[in-house]
Amino acid sequence: MNPYQQKRRWKYFLLAFAVVIASGSLLYTKYLVKNIADSERTRAQVWALSMKQVFASDDNDFLNYVFAVRDSLTVPALVVDDKGEFKYKKGLDTTKTFIKLEAEENKNIKYDTAYFRSELNEMKEQHQPIRLTVLGSQWLVYYKDSALLTQLKYFPYIQLSVIAIFLLTAYTAFSSSRKSEQNQVWVGLAKETAHQLGTPISSLMAWIELMKEKFNAEKDPLIAEMENDVKRLEIVADRFSKIGSRPILDHHVVYDVVKDFLDYFSVRVSDRITFEMGGNKVVKAGLNIPLFDWVLENLLKNAVNAIEGKGIIRIEIGESKKQVFIDVSDTGKGIPRSKFDTVFQPGYTTRKRGWGLGLSLTKRMVENYHNGHIFVKDSEVGKGTTFRIILKAITNDQQTTA
Ligand SMILES: Nc1ncnc2c1ncn2[C@@H]1O[C@H](COP(=O)(O)OP(=O)(O)OP(=O)(O)O)[C@@H](O)[C@H]1O
Ligand SMILES: [Mg+2]
Repeated sequence: MNPYQQKRRWKYFLLAFAVVIASGSLLYTKYLVKNIADSERTRAQVWALSMKQVFASDDNDFLNYVFAVRDSLTVPALVVDDKGEFKYKKGLDTTKTFIKLEAEENKNIKYDTAYFRSELNEMKEQHQPIRLTVLGSQWLVYYKDSALLTQLKYFPYIQLSVIAIFLLTAYTAFSSSRKSEQNQVWVGLAKETAHQLGTPISSLMAWIELMKEKFNAEKDPLIAEMENDVKRLEIVADRFSKIGSRPILDHHVVYDVVKDFLDYFSVRVSDRITFEMGGNKVVKAGLNIPLFDWVLENLLKNAVNAIEGKGIIRIEIGESKKQVFIDVSDTGKGIPRSKFDTVFQPGYTTRKRGWGLGLSLTKRMVENYHNGHIFVKDSEVGKGTTFRIILKAITNDQQTTA
């Protein structure tokens, strides 16, 4: 199993685990809430019943007992008679009406029932009233959830959100530190490679110059071929040195740069593949040619690999809203939709002798060094693929100030 399949499995496993924990916690709290709600209703019923007893009995001991039961009710409750008048209040914040009374000290005091009315409305929404007949009239006992029950209802949501925020922050912090670690390894390796290649390349160049003097270079094509290969090696070393430091971007006509590379590349692959080019011939973008050529090389090599037998590779340049589009299309085997992002991850390959590094490097060069964007624009298995690069277009006023 490759590391990406493994990573995905872990992701699914952890996600399933998180869902189990979250639903377990929600279900358990729901169970607790139901238990408490049932017990609160029973208490409210006992309270209502005790009130009835107050009016029905004149045995003092019994009444003391009944009062004790009545006082033990922990949920806020209101008793209303059939004319809508408040008979009893329990567990409510009566200071809210006192404040009003103090303010109206000098006036003819009327009992302020607005607070009780609003509480009553809330209670009506929460529970069915308990009915009792006292002294021949119908009383309704309304009650609402205790503060504890209300808090318990929201507790798991608050708890789970806090945990989710914590995990998300931790994940972001770890993944960005891992990325910057990878970055350092990557940049260090590139710099070291360029450095190590530098010395033998310079001496090879010097040897070639010597050989040219010693042998008849015009008659002997071997020396010219050797020189070509050493120059190629120089380009490779140059590319590595460029990704090891921040490259300079110069303004170039995109079409010309792509055309130059295509001319170089197309003669080096089988003639069963046809190359085409089209689109905007004037739009400019900030490019570092050695790195941008490397981007094109990776995309074109992949396109060639994707084509079995005959096929067409087409590069189209477009411009819109200050952006340059470079679409590289092929008539190859295509990429399944589920792999549109995965192809850019290092190590992902479907080729026997591939490293799976081409596209991850390409993405890095486009996004980190050219401030652009690259993605699979569309692809269909068995039909072909289009990769799109988006770069910022250089406008005329930028050119004069640059
Ligand atoms: N144009 C394309 N058409 C179809 N599949 C593609 C295309 N380009 C890339 N892929 C898929 O993406 C994978 C990763 O590409 P990438 O260039 O990163 O690695 P590679 O080509 O396999 O190896 P290398 O490191 O040598 O480039 C390829 O193995 C292939 O499956
Ligand atoms: Mg490749």
